[in-house]
Amino acid sequence: MERRPQGDNPLFSRNRMKLGVMAINCSHGSTPTLAEEAWPMRWADNVRVAQMMDAAGMEALLPVGRWKGYGGATDFNNRTFETLTWAAGIAAVTEHLAIFSTLHVPLYHPVQAAKQVATIDHISGGRFVLNIVCGWFRNEFEMFGAPWRDHDERYAYAEEWLALVRRLWTADEAFDHDGKYFQGKALWSQPKPVQAPFPPIMNAGSSPVGQRFSATNCDMNFVMLRQKDEETDRAQIQNLKGMAAEAGRPSQCWIHVYVVCRESEAEARAYLDHYVREKGDWAAVDNMLSIFGMQSETLEPAVMEAFRFHFIAGHGGYPLVGTAEQIVDQIDRLSAMGVDGMLMSWVDYENECRQWIDEVMPLMVQAGQREAFTPA
Ligand SMILES: Cc1cc2nc3c(=O)[nH]c(=O)nc-3n(C[C@H](O)[C@H](O)[C@H](O)COP(=O)(O)O)c2cc1C
Repeated sequence: MERRPQGDNPLFSRNRMKLGVMAINCSHGSTPTLAEEAWPMRWADNVRVAQMMDAAGMEALLPVGRWKGYGGATDFNNRTFETLTWAAGIAAVTEHLAIFSTLHVPLYHPVQAAKQVATIDHISGGRFVLNIVCGWFRNEFEMFGAPWRDHDERYAYAEEWLALVRRLWTADEAFDHDGKYFQGKALWSQPKPVQAPFPPIMNAGSSPVGQRFSATNCDMNFVMLRQKDEETDRAQIQNLKGMAAEAGRPSQCWIHVYVVCRESEAEARAYLDHYVREKGDWAAVDNMLSIFGMQSETLEPAVMEAFRFHFIAGHGGYPLVGTAEQIVDQIDRLSAMGVDGMLMSWVDYENECRQWIDEVMPLMVQAGQREAFTPA
């Protein structure tokens, strides 16, 4: 297949607010709720959502890299499709949108990862994007017997890993590598990815070291907004973009949003309350907090309660709750803060994504946030 510049990837569309969906490869997606319409996660449903987004001209579909669930009555995220094989399958049944994989760098050898990514880039015709994560949950690593390095060292490891993978994607001759974490002789990978010089890289580091890694090594940062107030969020994004610019890299900032869109704001708020307060899986949240080592004694009860609510509402994402018009106004504010794209989640992906396409996207076009989509 002929090579294409990375800039042709749909990720670099001209739309002021780019759109994607996340976590459809996981049972209950981003929402640990016992509401009946919660995401069951079957392959046929994944394909339907992917094809619906594709036909609507959205830019991105991201799977979450998860190896073990959080327990609770939902056994939240206990069933998850492996992200690279999932991406290969989705790439084969879509035509337009960028397909992501999330890959834990300590669990995939660079030689293997370089070839797997190149393969998916060929299947997708140059629409692949790699989201690299360094490890979040120790219990997942224990299944592999993989080393659980100190927090900051995980990013030093990721830096060598990424440089090696990029070299494999570009080297015209075999090369030896003698690094701190990897040693090998006559390293080689063919075919090269379709995208030249290689596919875009995303990272969601949120610690100071993680953010620096992301801004200076990657093409896009997946930001967890602190959500204290608009000024703090704006500063967080500008800081990331500033670090990237200093390193001579353009960098997009994307965020995760959870969406509840209804005819009236009251209806939207009532539904949010229903799936969180009445049907939420509070035990799953508590399990997650304990995996993180967060103890209720160290946090104010009100802060803890807000955190738990927010996690059930949409995995701590940014809330877009209200009517289609209110949501489009909110998107204007996010765009003004420097947000380039949003990865969305809903309780009921299939019906609510359809609603987004029919009711919200036309308003986004009217508001100048996006262009109307005409398939090539
Ligand atoms: C929106 C979002 C999605 C993430 N997705 C994953 C994931 O799929 N798998 C994973 O292991 N970590 C995931 N992470 C964790 C990040 O890679 C990162 O470890 C986390 O934000 C903590 O930052 P730090 O590593 O700089 O401390 C995600 C983080 C965010 C904010």
